[in-house]
Amino acid sequence: YDYDLLVVGSANADLVIGVERRPAAGETVLGGDLSTHPGGKGANQAVAAARLGARTALLARVGEDGHGRLLLDSLRSAGVDPSGVLAGGAPTGVALITVDPSGDNSIVVSPGANARLTPADVRESAALLRAARVVSAQLEIPLETVVEVVRNLPSGTRFVLNPSPPRPLPAEVLAACDPLIVNEHEARVILGEDAGAEPEDWARGLLAMGPRSVVVTLGAEGALVYDGSGTARVASVKVDAVDTTGAGDAFTAALAWKLGAGASLAQAAGYAARVGAAAVTRAGAQESYPTAEEVEQL
Ligand code: RIB
Ligand code: NA
Repeated sequence: YDYDLLVVGSANADLVIGVERRPAAGETVLGGDLSTHPGGKGANQAVAAARLGARTALLARVGEDGHGRLLLDSLRSAGVDPSGVLAGGAPTGVALITVDPSGDNSIVVSPGANARLTPADVRESAALLRAARVVSAQLEIPLETVVEVVRNLPSGTRFVLNPSPPRPLPAEVLAACDPLIVNEHEARVILGEDAGAEPEDWARGLLAMGPRSVVVTLGAEGALVYDGSGTARVASVKVDAVDTTGAGDAFTAALAWKLGAGASLAQAAGYAARVGAAAVTRAGAQESYPTAEEVEQL
């Protein structure tokens, strides 16, 4: 394989404002200075994996604009192969993000070019798909594009999905996931009304929908992994949160990479939890991702 990980997903310019609290409907609040960061769940995953040392490529679409160049610069400086980043069709995706004093965020995404990443783009990138040991995706691109990825996966290629932002998933996509990685909100949307109250319920219910394995992330409580042989808890690392934006993307990327390298699901999730913890200690998404050395020091 030429790549440890191929990420198929979104690339956004993150426009971030720190706020004391979020406005209610009809209200205006004053925040801090605007900062612009490279983000998007797909590009974030790619940068996170490459920072850790994974040979990584990204299949994505950006606009022919300054935000697109910001993203390409970030990918290149992290060592991501950008040959699968297509340009044109619409402005680069934008995420409007507010971050509160506890480090929690609220995000509105304008998909822009991400919405124009088509099934045909996937078919035309067959060589990239063949060259990757693990393929990961999220849901800031059209669902039909993710379906096409699953249909074109070479046999033996592992597929990892973080269904964010969540929506109900076709059986064909669920069956390909190994693992499906969800937080509580995502688990509840995919499970629907009978989700149950406990993370163990979500993990069991999701596994029954077809994935070969499930990871439920629980923020400061760590994560729960389940591959049918039983659930295992993975501890989190206690850190002071500055900005949680993109920490889940770093978690997914680290987990996907470690699985490809032969780690067990629990081992990979344990490592990924440390990567995610390191990411919340710094501002921004891609700029906050640790190197393998920094993870060791944590
Ligand atoms: O997961 C974090 C990401 O979500 C941000 O970088 C933002 O672009 C949104 O897509
Ligand atoms: Na961060």
